Amino acid sequence: MPSYPPIKDSRLPGLLRSAREMPWAHRSVEFPHWYLQQWHFHRDGYLSRAAARWYDLLIDRLYNAGQAKVVHRTLAREAQRRGTRRIVDLGCGPGNLVESLGASLPEAEITGIDLSPFMLERANGRVASLPNVRFEHRDLISGGSPVRDVDMAVAVHLFGHLPRDGAGAVLQAAAGALGEGGVVLSVDHAWHRPPPLSSALVLWKRRPVLCGLLLLREYRLR
Ligand SMILES: C[S@@+](CC[C@H](N)C(=O)[O-])C[C@H]1O[C@@H](n2cnc3c(N)ncnc32)[C@H](O)[C@@H]1O
Repeated sequence: MPSYPPIKDSRLPGLLRSAREMPWAHRSVEFPHWYLQQWHFHRDGYLSRAAARWYDLLIDRLYNAGQAKVVHRTLAREAQRRGTRRIVDLGCGPGNLVESLGASLPEAEITGIDLSPFMLERANGRVASLPNVRFEHRDLISGGSPVRDVDMAVAVHLFGHLPRDGAGAVLQAAAGALGEGGVVLSVDHAWHRPPPLSSALVLWKRRPVLCGLLLLREYRLR
């Protein structure tokens, strides 16, 4: 997991208060200590509207420039090829992938899950015209996935951004959410360690995307 400076003590109580007051925040969800970092050097981490906007406009569009389109196209093709009906996007961030999948797969039901209520607000704002998309506030490490019988669980730039044991727990929970023939597809920068493999899954395929800058891993149930 990349390590950024912690959010400053002087800002943290106010950020946590406003995060908990967000309409998107679920009462039972806590923000674990490791999450309270200045992600991508934004002083609020993922815990403000400004931080969600920063991630969306600067990190996703500029730093990840060109990657997102290729990743979204690749995942949409995978979903179409498999006739996927139920997709969950783990750590959906500002909802770019959810939007793209929701538009290209109108028959599919897509759920985006994230720990940041500000990311969820931003994500929801961009899919207003898509009736097949919904979002949920959840800590995937302690809370697992709320959706069952999933055909495709996708995790883009998620596993490499979690503590290692947490990444293992999320992969395990994703395995538990899969229906028959379901798959977990993760996309991460090649330099991030993959999550420890859940006993329920096999790593079926690993293929480079964008000349190996990113790796797409496909996990299937044993
Ligand atoms: C690096 S961003 C990736 C966002 C998006 N998937 C993308 O490709 O742009 C990681 C996202 O995962 C979310 N996240 C991190 N830990 C999480 C957890 N335990 N449960 C749910 N979401 C989490 C963060 O809030 C953030 O939105």
